[in-house]
Amino acid sequence: MEREGGKPAAVVAVVTEPRFTQRYREYLEKQKLLDRRHRVEKMPDGTVALPVLGETLPEQHLHELRDRVAPGSTCTVTQLLDPVPSKKAQGCSPAQRLCLEVSRWVEGRGVMWSAELEADLPRSWQRHGDLLLLSEDCFQAKQWKHLEPELWETVASALGVRRVAKRGRVSPDGARTPAVTLLLGDHGWVEHVDNGIRYKFDVTRCMFSFGNITEKLRVASLPCAGEVLVDLYAGIGYFTLPFLVHAGAAFVHACEWNPHAVAALRKNLDINGVADRCKIHFGDNRKLKLSNIADRVNLGLIPSSEEGWPIACQVLRHDAGGILHIHQNVESYPGKNHQPPGSSEMEKEHWPYPQQMITSHCTNGATRDSRGKRQSAATKPEWQRWAESAETRLATLLQQVHGTPWKTQILHIQPVKSYAPHVDHIVLDLECRPCPLVG
Ligand SMILES: C[S@@+](CC[C@H](N)C(=O)[O-])C[C@H]1O[C@@H](n2cnc3c(N)ncnc32)[C@H](O)[C@@H]1O
Repeated sequence: MEREGGKPAAVVAVVTEPRFTQRYREYLEKQKLLDRRHRVEKMPDGTVALPVLGETLPEQHLHELRDRVAPGSTCTVTQLLDPVPSKKAQGCSPAQRLCLEVSRWVEGRGVMWSAELEADLPRSWQRHGDLLLLSEDCFQAKQWKHLEPELWETVASALGVRRVAKRGRVSPDGARTPAVTLLLGDHGWVEHVDNGIRYKFDVTRCMFSFGNITEKLRVASLPCAGEVLVDLYAGIGYFTLPFLVHAGAAFVHACEWNPHAVAALRKNLDINGVADRCKIHFGDNRKLKLSNIADRVNLGLIPSSEEGWPIACQVLRHDAGGILHIHQNVESYPGKNHQPPGSSEMEKEHWPYPQQMITSHCTNGATRDSRGKRQSAATKPEWQRWAESAETRLATLLQQVHGTPWKTQILHIQPVKSYAPHVDHIVLDLECRPCPLVG
């Protein structure tokens, strides 16, 4: 990759005879002047050059070396125009490599490398093919401003990418606009292949969560053959596509109000060859005109998809009902005095026919508690309590929307990822069926 100035910055080195190398090295190390990023080099005349930090070696150190550390040594300063990275530098992690290259480049620009700058370097990032996506909490110091835009070329070169973008906060505008700025490169389109599915999207306009991969895989393995699905928060197709490509869904109605996500979704349906089995509903899903159509509804919005619950109830088939996959961020605090599941006030029974609790069976062999609810091995009490409260509210909503009693059942609670300290992103699978008319 080309960068301004062409070659990497030169390094200053102190030159002496080989027999004094060890004494020089010890002194420079003690003075914290030895540049460990580069190798000590043998010069054509048989002398050795020890790379040092900074733009020059102050006169006082030259005197010390010459007069006290190694009396009789020749002590001169030179510049290594093509310094060789040390073994340590070659075998270092990408974050260490970034630090080495950026610090060297910064010093080459006459800016003093400092602990503040070092602490402001990124420790992690997302790599989308040849695009590096930095998080918002790096490169915040004022000094970087004077080093742009070439700085981004150095970062790209250090990490072997061609484009660099930086994240701001995901804006709380509902469209989950990622507030990403492109720092190097001319477009933000990237491609990912997950579980055999291709996803293209513009990182500056659509969000992508690597943390949702477990849920994408789970969705792909659900038995949806022949089913009609509504994906209320389709985004670029994170769940719509696995439902269509792997789970065998007959048709998906994909709702999305971000035009950039819709453009990516359209492209992704095409490149994965499933466009004929999906209809995109562009706009606010709360105004969706569909009803009585779905065997399954996906509600993939966090922190909460609650605003979509009424429409989810509306689209479920009147005659047979279906399954809701409800995403939610749930808070839990370690050490808090938990109520055991079953004693919560929120825990109410919505299964109107007790005998069905006994006779109902799990389709995939999971265990159920005494009341027929499926237990997830890793369920935290807070998740269970939230799921039960969601079940209560949805049972009420279903009855209001359809005008008849419905039975609901918690099938499964799936942890997706830790969203923040003490906050987990989970998915509740809720089975919702209309009660058979009696008499
Ligand atoms: C979390 S994102 C992507 C969803 C994807 N299911 C995932 O978890 O990776 C949620 C998406 O829902 C869309 N969205 C949010 N509220 C919406 C609404 N009321 N109507 C339609 N789309 C909405 C956003 O634009 C965004 O693309």
